Amino acid sequence: MKNHAKPQLGYLHHISLPCRDLVEAKRFYIDVMGGQLFHDTPGFAEVKIADMIVGVSEQPSGWTGIADEYPHYGFNVDGDNFALSRAWLDGCGVPNWGWTRNYKTALRYFRDPSGNLIEYYCDSGFGEIKNLHLGPRQGGLPLPLADLNYRWSGQVASAPARRPAIDSFGHLSMPVHDLALAKKFFVEVLGGEPMVTSDPATFTEVRLAGATVGLSARGGQWTGRDAEYPHYAFYVDGENFLPMIDWLKKSGVVTPGPWTRDGQKGLMYFRDPSGNLFEIYCGKDIPQAAQFPRGVKQGGNYATDYASLFYQWQG
Ligand SMILES: [Fe+2]
Ligand SMILES: [Fe+2]
Repeated sequence: MKNHAKPQLGYLHHISLPCRDLVEAKRFYIDVMGGQLFHDTPGFAEVKIADMIVGVSEQPSGWTGIADEYPHYGFNVDGDNFALSRAWLDGCGVPNWGWTRNYKTALRYFRDPSGNLIEYYCDSGFGEIKNLHLGPRQGGLPLPLADLNYRWSGQVASAPARRPAIDSFGHLSMPVHDLALAKKFFVEVLGGEPMVTSDPATFTEVRLAGATVGLSARGGQWTGRDAEYPHYAFYVDGENFLPMIDWLKKSGVVTPGPWTRDGQKGLMYFRDPSGNLFEIYCGKDIPQAAQFPRGVKQGGNYATDYASLFYQWQG
């Protein structure tokens, strides 16, 4: 039976990433990643990659740190497509690093031109897995995370290289300041289900509203003090939207309250206890939305004060 006491998040609706150059970011997510332009406005664009909307917006900083592994974003590919990934990225002038922890799951790390770390993730069917580097925690080489930064020329690989087709969004993994506290928050407050991971002292995963969310205590920066990006948005239906805000508030989260762009849909930003920025977004069916404050870009007065959303969560 479904538990109606706690409001539910629907599904991961979009991830929105900072970029240093919007034109460059759009070209990368379309030409290199194979996404489709979904929404295009001055200063902000959305590209749909398989089932996920990836937003990009110019910001002076905030992408994955120069030598950091978190945050990063994983996309699922099958074995045949993983096999295309190295030649494809090489041909696009994108440095990349293929590795494995266990000779079962194949991973390839690379960055977008701003520095956001991306991963092709393949859980079975890659025949050449023995040729991948072994992970650093399994006795292999350190991940060359700093060497994956580059200046993109805009180059796109030509035949015979083929672009790997992405099956679906895989996971988002973010840095947290206290792993046990983070896990408690993602399970008890947001409603995630704990998953088993290989190195639970520094990394754990939760299944949250159908999405795999990694929580890492291995360093990295959460969303900047005054920054809107990166943020991760969960869709919440009309029945759950306002109750979710009440629930977050009761749970000790700083909740600035809902706002609207159009008087019909509602959204609200909040942070996890580390500072990673989340959004809950409701696309329709909130009659109260006509009364929500309207965003400044839509002619209203509402602007989120990102710096005010931090809090000390005690569990
Ligand atoms: Fe990952
Ligand atoms: Fe958003």
